[in-house]
Amino acid sequence: MSQRYLVTSALPYINGVKHIGNLIGSMLPGDVYARYLRQEGHEVLYVCGTDEHGTPAELAAQEAAMPVEEYCAKMYDVQTRTYDGFGIQFDYFGRTSSPSNHELTTMIFEHLYNNGFIEEKFINQYYSPVDARFLPDRYVEGTCPHCGYEKARGDQCDGCGTLLDPEDLLNPYSVISKSKDLVLKQTQHFFLNIPKLAPDVIAWIEQRQNWQDIVRGIAQKWISEGLQSRCITRDLKWGIKVPKRYQASDAEDKVFYVWFDAPNGYVSITMDWAIASGDKDAWKRWWLPDNVDDVFYVEFMAKDNIPFHTIFWPAMLLGTKLPFKKVDDIKGFNWLTYDKGKFSTSQKRGVFTDKALELFPADYWRYYLLANCPESSDSDFTFESFALTVNKDLADILGNFINRTWVLLQKYFDMKLPASVSPGPKELQAKCEKIVQEISTLLSARKFRQATAALRSLWVTGNEYITENEPWSVLKKDTQAGGEILSHCVHLMRVFAIACAPFIPHTAKKIADMLNLDWEDITHTPIAKAVSFYRLKQGHVLRAEAVVFAKIDAAQVEALTIQYDGNHADS
Ligand code: MF3
Ligand code: ZN
Repeated sequence: MSQRYLVTSALPYINGVKHIGNLIGSMLPGDVYARYLRQEGHEVLYVCGTDEHGTPAELAAQEAAMPVEEYCAKMYDVQTRTYDGFGIQFDYFGRTSSPSNHELTTMIFEHLYNNGFIEEKFINQYYSPVDARFLPDRYVEGTCPHCGYEKARGDQCDGCGTLLDPEDLLNPYSVISKSKDLVLKQTQHFFLNIPKLAPDVIAWIEQRQNWQDIVRGIAQKWISEGLQSRCITRDLKWGIKVPKRYQASDAEDKVFYVWFDAPNGYVSITMDWAIASGDKDAWKRWWLPDNVDDVFYVEFMAKDNIPFHTIFWPAMLLGTKLPFKKVDDIKGFNWLTYDKGKFSTSQKRGVFTDKALELFPADYWRYYLLANCPESSDSDFTFESFALTVNKDLADILGNFINRTWVLLQKYFDMKLPASVSPGPKELQAKCEKIVQEISTLLSARKFRQATAALRSLWVTGNEYITENEPWSVLKKDTQAGGEILSHCVHLMRVFAIACAPFIPHTAKKIADMLNLDWEDITHTPIAKAVSFYRLKQGHVLRAEAVVFAKIDAAQVEALTIQYDGNHADS
């Protein structure tokens, strides 16, 4: 089977640093899956990048008092570094503001237009003479007609939560200039005619019986609520410009709606990857393959993104009538909550990715988040549960096993493998064999929480083996017998390194270093084959420096809980 795997994670918005819930809702599981596939020997392309257009980007730049291009460039660097810090191994991390996306999105629009799937409509919208521009929804604020809240936004009232249209607001004013001199004027907008595309979209979804319930459910709900045409243009300066020849008058300055260009980013980022890799047409192998079944395409995202990926974007692609590769499976995630509530950037509530890395090593976060992945329901982060997981699983189980083995090797064998022992004890080997199969099957099915639990059970098995066999006592009487037990432990560590590699790659790498093994060897051994590969020989030189997992104490938990609860915005 020569199937190759295309993996994408929802493109994070450019404005602001993302929180750890964003990470477990798309990028981290995408990375684990891509690493797993590469380790299996598959050809994989994993792309992601920043989603840079739309009102929030413009407003965030304004708040930072920076030109929007500069703001985006800066935040792109920040996000790139952060994901790198977490060990997210993209083949390419690009940007939706790239020239390639401008070209591609324009091309897709033109195909949709020529195929009759674009409607022009003239709608009433606030115009601000002082700002000399039309104001998109979020650029208008005013008093909520329902609850009287005075800073309700044009799209929604934060006071009572009601969805609004800008015309609903009492005493509307411009967010940019605060001017109250607003006039409703007619302006031309483009709409994607989803009703006309609906039969194709529905037929396409019908063939996707393999989708998870949450994904199918959300798609079906959108369909049953009636698919409507969606406005795909906005009055913003920053974005992909609607070509002049389609605009009613030269005075109009429209850009495409952010959701019209962002998903195309998956393709354009692949184009940028292709250029960087020296073969500019290489993207076609992924997005316009000779045979669509040669590529298996999986998307990772949080549940709020599902409608756009099951309906809106597929509708766009279908409407072009070009043979674009479309998604085979969507892995959708529920929410990670923070101490029973929401993460909030403005209130500084919750742990954000940049701070997370300053607090603890990346693998602590990776392990915790995967073990508590919001897969079948929401899950809740607290520093207390974080500390509990790290202390128990990483320090007491994995760390303790490694530490006991290493201390004895140093004391008795000067860091050389005491004996060639192959195969291992029957029962131990059978047990591990079963677990690695399980991990592999679960990862291949993209069931991360269960896969992480299986990984943990592998560590438990090792820990039980050393506890039951007590090499520390045996060694006092019989160096040979004790050395054999330790040699089995060393081999178990190799199994651990291989099985850990997709989940906690930094730790896996450290274990490989301790074992004086090539990282390439570890990352090219399929997990399911880890056990039968018993191969280290007597005398193999091991490295003394061991991986350590520092425990998190109660005082630290308490301090962090207070610091990040959202009531301490200045800390
Ligand atoms: N930026 C969006 C979010 O964070 C996701 C965009 S996914 C894409 O929710 F496909 F449109 F790029
Ligand atoms: Zn209100």
